[in-house]
Amino acid sequence: MKLFLDTANIEEIKTAWSWGAIDGVTTNPSLVAKEGRPFKDVVREICEIVNPGDISAEVVSLDAEGMIREAHEVASWHPNIVVKIPMTKEGMKAVRVLSQEGIRCNVTLVFSLSQAFLAAKAGAYYISNFVGRVDDISGEGMNAVRDTVNMIQEYGFKSQVLVASVRHPMHVVEALRAGAHACTVPFKVLEQLYQHPLTDIGIQRFLADWEKSGAKIFE
Ligand code: E4P
Repeated sequence: MKLFLDTANIEEIKTAWSWGAIDGVTTNPSLVAKEGRPFKDVVREICEIVNPGDISAEVVSLDAEGMIREAHEVASWHPNIVVKIPMTKEGMKAVRVLSQEGIRCNVTLVFSLSQAFLAAKAGAYYISNFVGRVDDISGEGMNAVRDTVNMIQEYGFKSQVLVASVRHPMHVVEALRAGAHACTVPFKVLEQLYQHPLTDIGIQRFLADWEKSGAKIFE
């Protein structure tokens, strides 16, 4: 399963990339707006840092023609860019055209199996299935992920299921169990994935025993 970082913050991206675990970055208009910098500059900088890696950048038009125009512009910034298009009728019209042109599309704001089915039919490269926003309103976001992975396998679609709107490490664990192709996490969740109290205790004990013994690596 590919692991992406869900942020547009350069410091977070540099740190996560240095830890060696991420395969790309997903951004959205809200995340880019938080950085207060020109969209193109942010995206191009991310592409330079996380390379190789898939970098998702979203269009903002609501009509297919506008989305296609914006997608051509965004995709021209770097070969690793995947264009994010929202799950609407106009969006799927745009995805059909763009995917036939060879531009990879990440269909975003997908919440149900029926939406995922339509995204796959249109030629989505990634289907971003949001789980946290469903859990936030007492739903079970992972159900649609499981259904979608099953559909992709059963019918042989080429799209990859990307678990998004992740709130905590168990979402990542469930994504792995569901056989998702990718999962995007906020920086805080990435940090949490490394942690286990028994690891900390184990390191303390090993070092205490080592010091007592007087052993050395370099004599
Ligand atoms: C996906 O690519 C989105 O950027 C993201 O996962 C949205 O998550 P949120 O529900 O935390 O805003």
